[in-house]
Amino acid sequence: MEIKVTKTTCPKEKPEASTLGFGKYFSDHMFVMDYSREQGWHDARIVPFGNLSLHPASTVLHYGSEIFEGLKAYRRADGKVQLFRPLENIRRMNRSAERMCLPTIPEEDALYILKEFVKFEQEWTPSAPGTSLYLRPFMFGNDETLGVHAVHNATYIIIASPVGSYYKEGINPVKIMIEDQDVRAVRGGTGEAKCGGNYAASNRAGERAEQKGYSQVLWLDGVERKYIEEVGAMNVMFKIGGEIITPMLSGSILPGITRKSCIEVLKKAGYKVTERLFSIDELEQAMQDGTLEEAWGCGTAAVVSPIGEFCYKGVQHPVNNGEIGEVTQMLYDTLTGIQWGKGGDTFGWTCPID
Ligand code: PLP
Ligand code: COI
Repeated sequence: MEIKVTKTTCPKEKPEASTLGFGKYFSDHMFVMDYSREQGWHDARIVPFGNLSLHPASTVLHYGSEIFEGLKAYRRADGKVQLFRPLENIRRMNRSAERMCLPTIPEEDALYILKEFVKFEQEWTPSAPGTSLYLRPFMFGNDETLGVHAVHNATYIIIASPVGSYYKEGINPVKIMIEDQDVRAVRGGTGEAKCGGNYAASNRAGERAEQKGYSQVLWLDGVERKYIEEVGAMNVMFKIGGEIITPMLSGSILPGITRKSCIEVLKKAGYKVTERLFSIDELEQAMQDGTLEEAWGCGTAAVVSPIGEFCYKGVQHPVNNGEIGEVTQMLYDTLTGIQWGKGGDTFGWTCPID
């Protein structure tokens, strides 16, 4: 595959590590590639980062044909840049594409593109502790017609954003509101696809939670509002009576790569990990009788994020006295150790870009 390169003529200044936050700054270039049914994927190019021009009838603007991924490039102590399980993201992107009637990209091409783009933009990978270059591949339907049908034309883009921590709390515990009105997804719907519409539909509850001082909401299942699903931008895990419990992949939650990695790390460390339907009644009981020892969220942007309080139906339930727990800390240290190349990668999860 040939990638045509057009370099920017006005490179930007890199932001100070202390000001990074999440998704505020963007690197100098972006990767773009077009798809049509006749030509397949074509015109792979790296171009200066800039605005897009879309036909006002473009499918994405009316019918929400959009999917995305999120992964990070990490700068190791020796200066080299590496990715974390990128093939997992590529495979999930293709599953999302299939669900949303968007074109898939052959795995080897998608990996080649990702690595070439990161290699090109690698100087944007920050080196301060806890920082990384967040990569946002996304794809949208771009037919210039108002007819509703599977997409015939699409665009695939990767942008890159140097980031610090997702939550203003950093590694400090976040407060989560359990949502009992809106639902995020149902089985058979698009919950397990990483499509923009899932996030658009979550904003109302997220906004209500934020107004009450909570970082995000914890979703319950869309049918009975009984089973715990996931948090706005991360999967969720609980330690109850020594056992780790996490909602099973029921079809309506995102199969997180951090979730999968946490489960593998936990099992290797000898913990009992159970993936099952886990009800809000069980969680409430465990919060009341004190058997809930720890709770945390996990995701690429959020890394491993301790939960210090849940609020359910107006009642506040502190978790582990609002402090980070032992297992949460172990997971954070193990995963970030692998990602930033500080510890050994006994799982073979890292992928150098050259
Ligand atoms: N659940 C939702 C809704 C998310 O947006 C994310 C973030 O990507 C996750 C879970 C965690 O997935 P991953 O660990 O692959 O980033
Ligand atoms: C990620 O963790 O990569 C995500 O996509 C979450 C996001 C909605 C910020």
